[in-house]
Amino acid sequence: MRVVLGVGAGIAAYKCCELLRLLTESGHRVRVVPTPAALEFVGAATWAALSGEPVSVTPWEDVHEVPHVRLGQEADLVFVAPATADLLARAAVGMSDDLLTAVLLTARCPVVFAPAMHTEMWEHPATRANVATLRGRGAVVLEPASGRLTGRDTGPGRLPEPAELFSVARRLLARGTRALIQDLAGRHLVVSAGGTREELDPVRYLGNWSSGRQGYALAETAVSRGGQVTLIAANTDLPDPAGVKVVRVRSALQLREEALAAADTADAVVMAAAVADYRPAARSDSKIKKTGAAPDPVVLAENPDIVRDLVAARRRPGQVIVAFGAETGDLLANGRQKLARKGSDLLVVNKVGNGLAFGTADNEVLVLGADGSEVMLPRAAKEEIADSIWDLVVARLP
Ligand code: C5P
Repeated sequence: MRVVLGVGAGIAAYKCCELLRLLTESGHRVRVVPTPAALEFVGAATWAALSGEPVSVTPWEDVHEVPHVRLGQEADLVFVAPATADLLARAAVGMSDDLLTAVLLTARCPVVFAPAMHTEMWEHPATRANVATLRGRGAVVLEPASGRLTGRDTGPGRLPEPAELFSVARRLLARGTRALIQDLAGRHLVVSAGGTREELDPVRYLGNWSSGRQGYALAETAVSRGGQVTLIAANTDLPDPAGVKVVRVRSALQLREEALAAADTADAVVMAAAVADYRPAARSDSKIKKTGAAPDPVVLAENPDIVRDLVAARRRPGQVIVAFGAETGDLLANGRQKLARKGSDLLVVNKVGNGLAFGTADNEVLVLGADGSEVMLPRAAKEEIADSIWDLVVARLP
């Protein structure tokens, strides 16, 4: 497919050499269109050599080909990274004072901005307003990652890692024209992922096999549909997805606290995490030693049911709450019982065993609705399952 990689004048432009590589190596034809100032950071020769395509920054070159119209019209995706405060501002008001901004006006395909700038610039009301304008017009504007910035400062403003940016591009290209429907734009979605660990002592815990992949797929697909996502990740080993606010937790009690806090502003909460039903009643401050005598039994205390607490605390009218459940037996009967017990709007019943669910790339689920609905999602990639779950959530949002 044809991709226009728009490069803004930010120090993070160097990361886009890697993004370009990932795009070309997966078979896409990429035209790099830097802003004139971006060439201060990475020169045209680098972009031309890596893309195998000509590079220009102004519509005044190759005028007979009318590049500012042709590039925009032919593109299947325009991906702007790093999107500086200046570039976001020019795009928001619809200026076309260089080739890239002209392409942004002629493109009718999905457009992604991956902002990178200092925290102060990102948080400035002018930038907030520009981001809101662009999102309102259907562009995907990713939240920047938090961490070390150009100098010694840290905070939100980092460009996400190239592999994560590539995942966003891949997902949007795969969605084709459906990617133009940003049906989660303006929505705050909270997703939990992974499995909790309940500590016995400083070195041991009770845990489970959840990898977090289904929850991460939910977070990633929601971003591609324009959502603002808070991902509460319990003990996962996966890279932070681009554009997602990741909150890390360990235990069920921590997860509960973060979920309830994030739910205050959430349009939907999807609890994909495997939460321990029980925790050790007491945590030893020192490592439990082998005594030679018969070991003490581990006494357990029950964890609060977070989904039920979310349902009870539902502050926003119309907030959609989704629970997950792993079952080995009769999916439908057990699922209906669980849905009634939890009080959520939807229950995604996972079939576990036979190579499904844990740590795999595929999943097969049955989604039960409190309204009596029943949707079988046949075996598919976890991302596809995630998209189908969002379809069901979107249909229930006010
Ligand atoms: O009852 P069960 O543990 O099978 O329910 C699974 C669902 O409930 C998942 O959505 C999980 O995130 C959630 N859960 C919870 N609080 C618990 C245990 C599970 O919210 N203590």
